[in-house]
Amino acid sequence: MLITNLINLYVKKFNAAGINNSLEEIRSMIQEILKIDLATQLIEKELIINEKQKKLIKEYLDRRLKREPFDRIMKKKIFRDFELDINHNTFSPRSETELLIDIIIDMKLNPKHILELGTGSGAISIALMKNFPKAKCIATDINQKSLDLAKQNAKKNYVLNQINFICCNWLDIFVNFDFDIILANPPYIKTEVIKKLEPEVRNYDPIISLDGGKNGIDCYKKIILGLAQKPFSKNSKILFEIGYDQAQKVEKLMKEANIMQTSVFKDYSNQPRFVIGTITKSTS
Ligand SMILES: C[S@@+](CC[C@H](N)C(=O)[O-])C[C@H]1O[C@@H](n2cnc3c(N)ncnc32)[C@H](O)[C@@H]1O
Repeated sequence: MLITNLINLYVKKFNAAGINNSLEEIRSMIQEILKIDLATQLIEKELIINEKQKKLIKEYLDRRLKREPFDRIMKKKIFRDFELDINHNTFSPRSETELLIDIIIDMKLNPKHILELGTGSGAISIALMKNFPKAKCIATDINQKSLDLAKQNAKKNYVLNQINFICCNWLDIFVNFDFDIILANPPYIKTEVIKKLEPEVRNYDPIISLDGGKNGIDCYKKIILGLAQKPFSKNSKILFEIGYDQAQKVEKLMKEANIMQTSVFKDYSNQPRFVIGTITKSTS
């Protein structure tokens, strides 16, 4: 079969299924499955694939047609300049989150100790450790299966010796804080909205990684309450990824807990995406 015929057939099927960027996705999948790069696919339009190759591609594309996300089918995801393994137990990191790493680098803090709450696949902590090779990090999650994957990803990216993985509920086990940076991309979708999300999200990201409670801000409340109630170091930077409409609410919660000098950063789609603040009053 001609590869172009197979591509054209599936572009129609993908479009009918409501999948955006169908041609791009199909080509990328073929590139991954058969290791036929994009240039070859474009130039050699007469390229013929054998029955075995056709069967394999169809199997993967049919899964995508059922709205299984590309990265979950391929069991891997590129985050910034490195590769992460992905499995069904864990939230798949989003490209918006990559910007958080640049924001931290631009802050020129030279951090030594970092705490990431809710690490998922480990994407943020691994990226930070790669950029700050002298730093150490504690990466937590309530989901032990996520932590197992995060550990595997840290090993794969040669930063395992810098990260301590701990299974816990937000700040519950922490007695005091001595971190230069505390950061989290917690679940922030309103419970009611989850069933309206795209099938790629609602059917594949674990609910515990999405559900932010009735107003979407339950996890921020819990984390910020933990910060307010326990001794923590003055001048620690607190960074949250947020939903596009949550900046004001999260800033307010932060200020009420003496996390001041807050600022909001937008993502590449010009949506508010991160809130950053500084702990101004030591409670120790
Ligand atoms: C939106 S995902 C973010 C994962 C990862 N940090 C990222 O940006 O790709 C939220 C993560 O918080 C974790 N989580 C949910 N509730 C938690 C809790 N009570 N304590 C710690 N982690 C929690 C989830 O298991 C999930 O891995």
